[in-house]
Amino acid sequence: MYLGANFGRITFVDKKEAQKRIASLREVISDMRYRYHVLNDPEITDEVYDSLTRELRDLENKYQEYKLDIDPLDRVAGAPLDKFEKITHEKRMLSLNDVFSEDELAKWEERVEKILMTDKVSYFSELKFDGLAISLRYEKGELVYGATRGDGFVGENITENIKMVRGIPLSIKNAPELIEVRGEVIMRKKVLDKINKQQEKENKTKFANTRNAAAGSLRQLDPKVVKDRTLDFFAYDIALLSEDYGKNIDTHSKEHELLFELGFPVSEYERKTSSLKEVLSFIKEIGGVRESLEFGTDGVVVSVDDLELQKRLGIVGKAPRYMCAYKFPAEQVTTKVKDIIVQVGRTGVLTPLAILEPTLVSGSTVSKATLHNADQIKRLDIKIGDTVVLQKAGDVIPEVVSVVTALRNGKEKDFVFPKMCPVCDGEVEKRESNGKNTVAYYCTNKKCDAKNLRRIEHFVKVLDIYTVGPKIIERLNDEGLISDPADLFALTEADLADLERFGEKSASNIIENIKDKKKPPLNKFISALGILHVGEETAKDLSSRFHTLENFLKADKDSLEEIENIGPNVAESILEYLEDQHHRKFIEKLLSLGVVPKKYEKPKGEFSGKTFVLTGTLESLSREEAKRIIESHGGKISSSVSKNTDFVVAGENPGSKYKDAVTYKVKIVGEDFIKNLA
Ligand code: IVH
Repeated sequence: MYLGANFGRITFVDKKEAQKRIASLREVISDMRYRYHVLNDPEITDEVYDSLTRELRDLENKYQEYKLDIDPLDRVAGAPLDKFEKITHEKRMLSLNDVFSEDELAKWEERVEKILMTDKVSYFSELKFDGLAISLRYEKGELVYGATRGDGFVGENITENIKMVRGIPLSIKNAPELIEVRGEVIMRKKVLDKINKQQEKENKTKFANTRNAAAGSLRQLDPKVVKDRTLDFFAYDIALLSEDYGKNIDTHSKEHELLFELGFPVSEYERKTSSLKEVLSFIKEIGGVRESLEFGTDGVVVSVDDLELQKRLGIVGKAPRYMCAYKFPAEQVTTKVKDIIVQVGRTGVLTPLAILEPTLVSGSTVSKATLHNADQIKRLDIKIGDTVVLQKAGDVIPEVVSVVTALRNGKEKDFVFPKMCPVCDGEVEKRESNGKNTVAYYCTNKKCDAKNLRRIEHFVKVLDIYTVGPKIIERLNDEGLISDPADLFALTEADLADLERFGEKSASNIIENIKDKKKPPLNKFISALGILHVGEETAKDLSSRFHTLENFLKADKDSLEEIENIGPNVAESILEYLEDQHHRKFIEKLLSLGVVPKKYEKPKGEFSGKTFVLTGTLESLSREEAKRIIESHGGKISSSVSKNTDFVVAGENPGSKYKDAVTYKVKIVGEDFIKNLA
């Protein structure tokens, strides 16, 4: 897991601009807080909220003059709702300061050690649950009330609803005179799925996440509804405890032990450590299992364990100094669109690309994101200069998911598709894709340089000529050494050795690598041609239908449409390709240079017809390699586990798919299983 900081914040040269931005950020954030805390109906995720708040704080630090003496954003938001009776907390319900990186956590420790004047501090780490904080008051062992946090001082009495939450004891044995327990009401992920299915059936809005669902459910007026929502509880703190009873409880970890003994649900994921290094390994471990946990967690709460030391550290503003919340890298952040440019693809399609203020999302720095097509720009209503929500989940490519329109300042510019190809100045044509209802723009120049380069890149990628990357292709093209993919096969070592930058060795490597790929399987050959709408899978279908290149070149409408998965659009595109004399010549050129596809061979192998799912990180194989090995033995890869899955290949930190495999009793194997096949 990456523990880097968020950086690359939006920069302002102009002070006035910064002042305006600060004002609108405040407005937007304050509105989000109202929605979150009062209405339990946040429009945007926590991560987006965090991202905007960070931008505001960074700007305030830079432009101190715009900082407010009394900042309304510093108090815990959320006035209690009218519908519930109010309860004044005997002890204030605090909030936590967030840290977003290893560095920030280390700085927190530094401050702690400086104030305590020692570096021998024990820490207690536990999960940060993604739910709703509540306070439970027990007198003589009986639950007196349960309350929400509200604004930290005054909350809502939700006792009747609390009683419907599983795991909350209504009375406790061997109880102290008085105990006030703090903890989180949560909803398990599976429960959310079920409820959302029901909401969908009834045409009601779905809950965005488990926290909203838990919070929304708990504030229902009808306790019966709360019961149906199946909520759970984890206790994490003792706010008040009768003195005689509390004598021996001198650490936060002992508080957890007592909570457990008294019968409260306490999470098993917690650890007492004597150094921050061990805290970090706990954080890493949690990062690894996080996805597979039954409930949502967005970080780890770290506290100084000793209660006496906690007292000495005290509270600043709304949060204690002795505790902080380490937040996992966000999968959603906000950033600014600096520009929108277009890229020319191998089919000539113009793809708009957003150039972003570089920002860290899900552990990697992102500075560009595809906007796919004109429809997408229209649907999202993106303008140049907009603040947008950028999302990167796991291995998926980063995408812009929405625009924070409330942050517009009137200077944003609409993006217009160019009339001419930005690379070759060729004419651009608007085409509607039948059936799909989408509009795309194409460069119509057959000789467009960009189109050509992309075609070569595509060819090289499909045939796995891994020594030849986009930079080398561009170079060879500039030098006039190649003008189509076939030319690669005519290159000699001397051609390459002449080029500066290539030493003798890499030249021979490249030539060797190219030569190695002269006899590709038919499906690879077809896929490498780059026929519009013919991807890897369609190429496989074509290869298994026609068996040889000769047959494929003779394909007609009927024979193509007979193939399952190939509709009229794809068939038409294939025929158009095959009828074009340029393409015929290109194929002949390939053949004459010795690039001859192998005849189709029915996938043999012991795994013919078997379905595999990969999960977790494989140690010595990339996903692509694993996929290749499995497919070469006739197996198929699927992205999700079902009862029809035959094997789940589990690497390190497997996600929820591992659990699904257990549920469906699917055979689970390690990566050695695949390596042994190779
Ligand atoms: S301790 C002194 N422990 O995070 C603060 N809070 O941002 C007392 N939360 O309102 C809270 N898991 O809703 C604490 N293990 C945990 C937590 C936790 C989730 C929430 C809680 C609190 C918020 C603070």
